[in-house]
Amino acid sequence: MSTTMTGRHFVAGQWLSADGDTFPSRSPANRNQVIGVFPAGSAQVANDAVAAAKAAFTDWRRTSRILRAECFDRLARLIDRETDNLAHLMARECGKTLGECRAEVVEGLHMVQYVFGTGRMPIGTIVASEIAEKDAFVRRKPKGVVAVITPWNFPFAVPLWMLGPSLVEGNTAVFKPSEDTPAVGQRIVELFVEAGFPTGTINLVHGQGPVGEALVRNPDVAAVLFTGSFEVGRRIQQLSGDFWDRTVAAEMGSKSAVIVCEDCRMDLAVNAAVISAFKTSGQRCVSAGRILVSERVFDEFAKKFVDTAGRLRVGDPLDPNSFTGPVINEIAVEKVVKYNKLAAEEGAEVLSAGDRLTGAAHRDGQYLSPFVYRMEHGGRVRCIREEVFGPHVALIPFQTNEDAVRIYNDTDYGLSLAVITESYRTMRLFREECDFGMGYVNLPCIGAEVHLPFGGVKKSGNGHPSAAGLADVVTHKVAWTVNHGTEIRMAQGLSVEVG
Ligand code: UN1
Repeated sequence: MSTTMTGRHFVAGQWLSADGDTFPSRSPANRNQVIGVFPAGSAQVANDAVAAAKAAFTDWRRTSRILRAECFDRLARLIDRETDNLAHLMARECGKTLGECRAEVVEGLHMVQYVFGTGRMPIGTIVASEIAEKDAFVRRKPKGVVAVITPWNFPFAVPLWMLGPSLVEGNTAVFKPSEDTPAVGQRIVELFVEAGFPTGTINLVHGQGPVGEALVRNPDVAAVLFTGSFEVGRRIQQLSGDFWDRTVAAEMGSKSAVIVCEDCRMDLAVNAAVISAFKTSGQRCVSAGRILVSERVFDEFAKKFVDTAGRLRVGDPLDPNSFTGPVINEIAVEKVVKYNKLAAEEGAEVLSAGDRLTGAAHRDGQYLSPFVYRMEHGGRVRCIREEVFGPHVALIPFQTNEDAVRIYNDTDYGLSLAVITESYRTMRLFREECDFGMGYVNLPCIGAEVHLPFGGVKKSGNGHPSAAGLADVVTHKVAWTVNHGTEIRMAQGLSVEVG
């Protein structure tokens, strides 16, 4: 089952072998396991892929929307057939537990089913005109070639969030998966091909930054859909400023939070906070880096939270007893360890001193145990403001709910929040006053569903949510006004006298 994949680009319906540098994809659970070897794409292959997508665009946009959607019906059946294989490949390649990987395949399947369902849904609206004889239509039209640049932590669902709406709307795509999860990216494209998407409608390029940069610099790219770090998202938006009618949807970092109010159900609060902080080893963009806890329940909460965190099994992603697996790579280990140290230097009271796990079961992978600390909010403390993207979480006491709002908003990010309360007034306060994209009540701050918009504000997003929110980003709304009379009558009382 662990055969090594041969990586290939896919351009204009052809699988292309490496003609230059290659890079390996290694399992974060065991660095000695190579999942596959992939071509490091050049600017040339990126530009060829854009040209192929551009060449395919006219026929694809002219294809009936319903036929386009039916390709997704076939894709859904293939994903259903492949669920276990996809989940295994993903677990080996990105280190998430098998259960999480299966859930992610299901999330991708849901997106594909949703997209299929939109095939027979409206593509615009009809509105009234000031002139009775005129009909006015608003109709979405595809923009053209879409570049899809995706992260390793959701290597299956996030590409489908982007590819699904793009292709059903009539765009064509160039997909660049993360260099940490190229094998899952390639499997996605293989399934699109098997589902019968026509030549050039989907293209795949592998590689690191330069190939992504070449895509973004290509003037024929009409939209860039990106999920990843703030720094890369900002660079994409800056480069895209040269292309005035391009849209960019950028979903970036976060310092999301669970807010535990004094009237909470304690067991629910502890579970919600543990799931939010440590599922996926804290490597979701929506993971909670902060748990804000009413000081009236702080001690009880902190004890239960730390006890539970201490019992979590960090281990082999394929072992059904593991709660979380490793973090993605050495850079991630170093970053988390650096922030653990920084927290201590910045005055944290360390409640659970997480660190790298080096025993026999963990030696060959990049495993970290949970790091939990208490920190008062205030000053320019970095550890409670900056994204760590690992099992590193601050418990921050607050006095009033208004203080919790202020603390929640006191970061550069605004992605997700969860409020644990029994009070509808409290819940509403956070909904109205906090800056976020996805809000939850009596739930973890992770776990969105695909038919909702997904994205944030501030440094978390640029105002174009992904998943169900994407149709607006990959289309242009045109107005179309038809006169059914035999004479011209103008709106706004404009005279039609000529001469
Ligand atoms: C991400 O972390 O990049 O809401 C995406 C969730 C998942 C998607 C997360 N449905 O937790």
